[in-house]
Amino acid sequence: MPALADGLDVRGEAYAGNRAAMLERLAELDAALDQARAGGGEKYTTRHHARGKLLPRERIELLVDPDAPLLELMPVAAYGSDFAVGASVVTCIGFVSGTPCVIIANDPTVRGGSVNPYSLKKTQRAGEIAWVNRLPMVNLVESGGADLPTQAEIFIPGGRAFRDLTRFSAAGIPTLAIVFGNATAGGAYIPGMSDYTILVRDRAKVFLGGPPLVKMATGEESDDETLGGAQMHATRSGLADFVAADEHDALRLARMVLARVGGATAVGGPPPDPSAPPPRYDADELLGVPSADLRVPYDPRHVLARIVDGSEFDEFKPRYGTALVTGWAHVHSYPLGVLANARGVLYSEEAQKAAQFIQLANAARVPLLFLQNTTGYMVGARYEQQGIIKHGALMINAVSNSRVPHLTVNIGASYGAGNYGMCGRAYDPRFLFAWPNAKSAVMGPQQLAGVMSIVARQAAAAKGTEYDEEADASMRAMVEHQIEAQSAALAMSGRLYDDGVIDPRDTRTVLGLCLWLVSRRPPDEAGARFGVFRM
Ligand code: COA
Repeated sequence: MPALADGLDVRGEAYAGNRAAMLERLAELDAALDQARAGGGEKYTTRHHARGKLLPRERIELLVDPDAPLLELMPVAAYGSDFAVGASVVTCIGFVSGTPCVIIANDPTVRGGSVNPYSLKKTQRAGEIAWVNRLPMVNLVESGGADLPTQAEIFIPGGRAFRDLTRFSAAGIPTLAIVFGNATAGGAYIPGMSDYTILVRDRAKVFLGGPPLVKMATGEESDDETLGGAQMHATRSGLADFVAADEHDALRLARMVLARVGGATAVGGPPPDPSAPPPRYDADELLGVPSADLRVPYDPRHVLARIVDGSEFDEFKPRYGTALVTGWAHVHSYPLGVLANARGVLYSEEAQKAAQFIQLANAARVPLLFLQNTTGYMVGARYEQQGIIKHGALMINAVSNSRVPHLTVNIGASYGAGNYGMCGRAYDPRFLFAWPNAKSAVMGPQQLAGVMSIVARQAAAAKGTEYDEEADASMRAMVEHQIEAQSAALAMSGRLYDDGVIDPRDTRTVLGLCLWLVSRRPPDEAGARFGVFRM
């Protein structure tokens, strides 16, 4: 395979400016990650430790294999909302006794580990990742159940968590719950629905109703241990499969269970070949590649040269539809097809080239990587007449019905229908990450404010009223500011529109792990069947 001849000017002004901008975004990301790691803050974490308990990340660290990859998912969920960053739950993919698992750990230092709308969305997405990639699900439970002020938003959709656990079980994907503390009401069904349960002695409390509720309902006097302690569940109700002496023991038992049952889920997926050649160019230079000004497109080959094996890239149709780079490469020895925006806008040729390439990847059963940096499909009379809608539809049809695993990384802009054609969240990529500089919205802030202004101006003209130019200017400024803030990577990740914001330098590692995971569940034997292409 030919190697990319990279002409990146790492001494130029543009590179230095881009790098400085990226470092600023990375500092913001670090600050958000610090907030997530701080959980409920010092008061609550100190109290938690004083009770002889471990924090969720400490529990995860003891559960997973040392020196194996660990990928935290959606760490800044709820960023920009009224809820704590992280959404009172930690989700990750980690290896337990050699088996990759999805781990969901409540953070009891954040409002008692209660589940708010963001926590729910986050755990549901983690469940989806486990399901499509056939990964065992490990729940580290200690939660006050529904966040009571927002219960109306989570009670009904929250029921799905329990349904899904039984579906995992029916599909032969192991589920395991360790209960470290409170698992009340609906929370009791997490262990209730899991294949394996481990309850920590004198700590686990698993009941449908605690002592006060029982007193209210039936007048019966009771206590936590009698209603839902580990000992009672191990000897009387049968809900506990194991009683752990303490938290460390519980995590050891979980490793023992996974060592026995974990391997059953793997249906494919060789581990990465360690002899795969690293890229020829330094990943650190990725910081200076993306334009600080998103309106300035950049060559994604500079990115590929720093993430694919040996920087080797077999470009498909390099002279046709040149605003979209397509081609074949390997990452950590896994083959993949790449679609990467090169000049922002997508034209008819690019859409047709994409559709053809996606069909080829399906024929060859090779996963696809979408590197998004697009302002959307080209508008204007000339392009409409050439059929930009039907060509965009062709591409979106191909993306929608493609059966090979898709991975998406937003490395710049993801605007308009370009987000759909380039496999945005709604198109179910197996994993979707964003770089800290990335932005995503229906269109750019200036364009959106400008469109609103034109519409308002036309409405005023239709009514025959005078247009207030001053109000227009302040409306435009306000809208631009609002859209700018909403479309930023951290804000998008806060809303759970991706699986995490990653440091560009980690892209190769993250993609390598994801390609390993997606290869555990190969594409359907039947292959892709596309909808009718409008030609
Ligand atoms: N919804 C909203 N807030 C909750 C909550 C819930 N379900 N559970 C706890 N909180 C809040 C508390 O009000 C408290 O807030 P504050 O510190 O601002 O006063 C904070 O979380 C910590 O709670 P605290 O009771 O001090 O923590 P704890 O570790 O001693 O006990 C629980 C944790 C979960 C055992 C206890 O808070 C509890 O029993 N909560 C209610 C559980 C319940 O019945 N939920 C309904 C399930 S559907």
